[in-house]
Amino acid sequence: TKPILYITRKVPDQIVKKITSNFDVRMWEYEDQPVPRNVLLQEVRNADGILCLISEQIDKEILDQAKRLKIISNMAVGYDNIDVLAAREKGIVVTNTPDVLTETTADLTFALLMATARRLVEASDYIRNDQWTNWSPYLLAGSDIHRKTIGIVGMGRIGHAVAKRAKGFDMSILYHNRNRNRNAEVELQAEYTDFESLLRNADFVVSLVPHTLETDQLFNKEAFAKMKSSAIFINASRGKVVDEDALLHALHTKEIKAAGLDVFSTEPIRRDHSLVKLDNVVCLPHIGSASVETRTRMLQLCIENLEGYFFGKGPKTPV
Ligand code: GLV
Ligand code: GLV
Repeated sequence: TKPILYITRKVPDQIVKKITSNFDVRMWEYEDQPVPRNVLLQEVRNADGILCLISEQIDKEILDQAKRLKIISNMAVGYDNIDVLAAREKGIVVTNTPDVLTETTADLTFALLMATARRLVEASDYIRNDQWTNWSPYLLAGSDIHRKTIGIVGMGRIGHAVAKRAKGFDMSILYHNRNRNRNAEVELQAEYTDFESLLRNADFVVSLVPHTLETDQLFNKEAFAKMKSSAIFINASRGKVVDEDALLHALHTKEIKAAGLDVFSTEPIRRDHSLVKLDNVVCLPHIGSASVETRTRMLQLCIENLEGYFFGKGPKTPV
């Protein structure tokens, strides 16, 4: 009998078709709505494998229901939505989707940096709101990007790919990471610094750290206080690495200049969120890896992980 696979969101038919010969596929039938918690609790009881998204919290309560679950294939590089330790204790393998989304996420991170520095969203709204009645020297004037200093916190694959883009803009590159990244130092003249000097010296502070116990609210009141008043903060990793009240305060009081945020402590946010109301903030709905090509590659890798586990040489990208 085929392993039972539960997919927590509707995925394209051609993808499902390709796997039905190997798996007994069950799937949440809506593309634009997450599976309700009670449905997931029910479905996980019978599943041998699940393919899930970051919108699902795979915590102890879910894992306790899972009597035959062997693998959780997460469609994301980050996996803070999964209690990996609890899964490991039960012998359940967790996989993620690194590499395939690196360049796409770096593109978005740099686009967000540029949009924030050059006030692109405000400028576009300016025309949409029919405010463009003349031209003046400092109309929507923003900050330069080229030859400034970028400080990358979290120099993994995506951090490295962002540094490559920064290099093309003749930026000086500072980075902070648990481990040194010698390749980035040699290829891109990236300079390793402690967290505090990065905060003090960067014109752009870019967060690409995963959310863990150590990075929870890493960007707090003290961190924002150390940044330049001209600093622009960009977050393309996880909202929970930021103390959002402290960020709000820093933006209100002009302790920092602006922020570009693709991620938030709790998602989704609505337009009444206090960060959305500020002119000097660009907010995006967690679209770092959202290109059609990359989302397809991520789904494909999720499936390769499941097939590798059940029928091959093991999962391709276990965490
Ligand atoms: C998305 O946020 C991911 O971790 O891939
Ligand atoms: C983390 O996995 C990264 O790619 O930066």
